[in-house]
Amino acid sequence: MKNVLVTGGAGFIGSNFVRSILQHEPGVHIINLDALTYAGSLENLQDLPSPEQHTFVQGDICDRRLVDKLLRQYEIDTIVHFAAETHVDRSIVDPGAFIQTNVVGTFTLLEAARSAWVVEKPLPLDQVRFHHVSTDEVFGTLAPGDPSFNENTPYAPRSPYAASKASSDHLVRSYFTTFGLPITISNCSNNYGPNQFPEKLIPLMVLHARDGKPLPVYGDGQQVRDWLYVQDHCDAIRLVIQKGRVGETYAVGGDNQPPNLEIVHTICRIMDQLQPNSPYFPHEQLIQFVTDRPGHDRRYSIDISKIQTELGWQPQRSLETGLRETVQWYLEHPDWITAVSQQPDYQSWIQRNYSNREGGVK
Ligand code: NAD
Ligand code: TYD
Repeated sequence: MKNVLVTGGAGFIGSNFVRSILQHEPGVHIINLDALTYAGSLENLQDLPSPEQHTFVQGDICDRRLVDKLLRQYEIDTIVHFAAETHVDRSIVDPGAFIQTNVVGTFTLLEAARSAWVVEKPLPLDQVRFHHVSTDEVFGTLAPGDPSFNENTPYAPRSPYAASKASSDHLVRSYFTTFGLPITISNCSNNYGPNQFPEKLIPLMVLHARDGKPLPVYGDGQQVRDWLYVQDHCDAIRLVIQKGRVGETYAVGGDNQPPNLEIVHTICRIMDQLQPNSPYFPHEQLIQFVTDRPGHDRRYSIDISKIQTELGWQPQRSLETGLRETVQWYLEHPDWITAVSQQPDYQSWIQRNYSNREGGVK
């Protein structure tokens, strides 16, 4: 790994990954290709360690000429592909963008990589890698008591977001079997941590609790996610790229599976401790049950045995510690919150997603 093309590196996980590479891999040059959609922000790339090792390029992964140019100009040997439309609720309202970026965009990158690495072959194939960052949502939903997802679980996506990610996973795998493109895939559970766009559950709840706005819990709040601290995910990706077997998939998860309502109560408790003089104390008075998400997946859970035994990875942060640090990070970064949440798109999204959700079930 010398010259790395990171796609979507101005988003939540991508920017944390950029930071982690610059910290842990001296000598690596990162080319960060990001379209700066509503979810991407240069604010996420402030104060990078070794900024001279990082080059930002604003552009679309669907732009084949641009991707071709970057691969050759910077002699890219590794692609780490994060760029995607990522919010399930938005995929229900407007699925087209998900097909374009997640399916067509991934296809464009694969074609560019095939042409640069497999056809032209400037480097031996064992020195290049296409790592695709995917999600556990491709596996669908679990009932209580079902065994956790693992690498052999059949795909059964249920939202347009999950279906578009599943399509991209299939394409990536097919470029390995058909063209010999050296790929790896990681399917990870829900991440949380600094720099997550505040349309997702955890940062949304922190911001609303801070500002005394309702905390909208979908349905009965008993849906379960397998929460992983973002830095643990970044460590897993670095390890898969460096030590993972080509052509393989690795499931990554946090072994933290509380229902959403419990997460929201924990955030309220942490807010009570950090802001005891808030006019909204106790913050749980702000919780409001609202209409459920259509097709809402009930439960995700990941079996991490493969990455644990093959690569020695396991999560380092407990949920309690990670959540506390995360809440603290948002409270300590009001300028970041203002920069990302004052954009008109965010305000109109909040209006669009929440104004028609009547009171839900208790
Ligand atoms: P995010 O929405 O915070 O960031 C996505 C980034 O991609 C943004 O910076 C955006 O500007 C960029 N982007 C979007 N379309 C683009 C395009 N056409 N060309 C170039 N850049 C574009 O997403 P995230 O939460 O950081 O997720 C990153 C990746 O990890 C995604 O592929 C997602 O499916 C996967 N993932 C996320 C989670 C999670 O909990 N957030 C869990 C597992 C996997
Ligand atoms: P989210 O952060 O959107 O991630 P995903 O849908 O990819 O899992 O949502 C996490 C969980 O929180 C999910 O079960 C939906 C629920 N949720 C709410 O209850 N209220 C909200 O306002 C949001 C955004 C999510």
